[in-house]
Amino acid sequence: MGVLSDFDLDRLIREYGCRYLIETGTGLGKSLEYAAASDFDQVFSIEIMHKLALEAALRFAKNHKVTVIHGKSERGLKEALEEIPPEAPVIYWLDAHFPGADFRLASYKDEKNEAVRLPLERELRLLAGLRDISRDVFLIDDLRIYEDGTYDEGPCPADHRPAEEFRHTRFVDEVLGATHGIERLFRRTGYLCAYPKRRD
Ligand SMILES: C[S@@+](CC[C@H](N)C(=O)[O-])C[C@H]1O[C@@H](n2cnc3c(N)ncnc32)[C@H](O)[C@@H]1O
Repeated sequence: MGVLSDFDLDRLIREYGCRYLIETGTGLGKSLEYAAASDFDQVFSIEIMHKLALEAALRFAKNHKVTVIHGKSERGLKEALEEIPPEAPVIYWLDAHFPGADFRLASYKDEKNEAVRLPLERELRLLAGLRDISRDVFLIDDLRIYEDGTYDEGPCPADHRPAEEFRHTRFVDEVLGATHGIERLFRRTGYLCAYPKRRD
């Protein structure tokens, strides 16, 4: 599992002008805590598991910068974007997969619907259809789920390695290849980062 604190958010905020962050998959709120302490105007985090969403909502209840949305990531992304001006660049921390499994609230195989189990492709296509994403920054966690590499924490464990047909990142190039520089980091379980080519 990666952590957002591997990234210098205040530098990304300055460099790309992002005043908003949206996280898919709140988990225990570790990365949310780091984002909330950075210089964003608003931070949104979306979690499918009721228990985790409730715990995070209670924990950040007094922080007016933070909104926790309980639900599937696609619906949550739509909801969060309704609160963000269309021209304002956003940082996305895309980290939703295997509902509850990382925290032993479910097994990696429990969720049968692939669009909920591994929503990354649908999230990216949805975002590209909802707004101009050319100035947005994308930080994607757990690259080892999607492709092989020399990851610090080793290859994707067999119990959550997707079927080969779902194990690729071609959609990232399709959606972001023309507008973003794409970088792979092999730290921890791997990150795929997409930074806007356009700066204005
Ligand atoms: C790796 S954990 C998140 C860790 C957190 N982002 C952090 O960096 O501290 C993944 C989370 O995504 C949630 N999740 C899985 N599928 C989801 C979906 N389709 N929509 C929203 N949340 C989802 C899981 O329940 C789990 O809490």
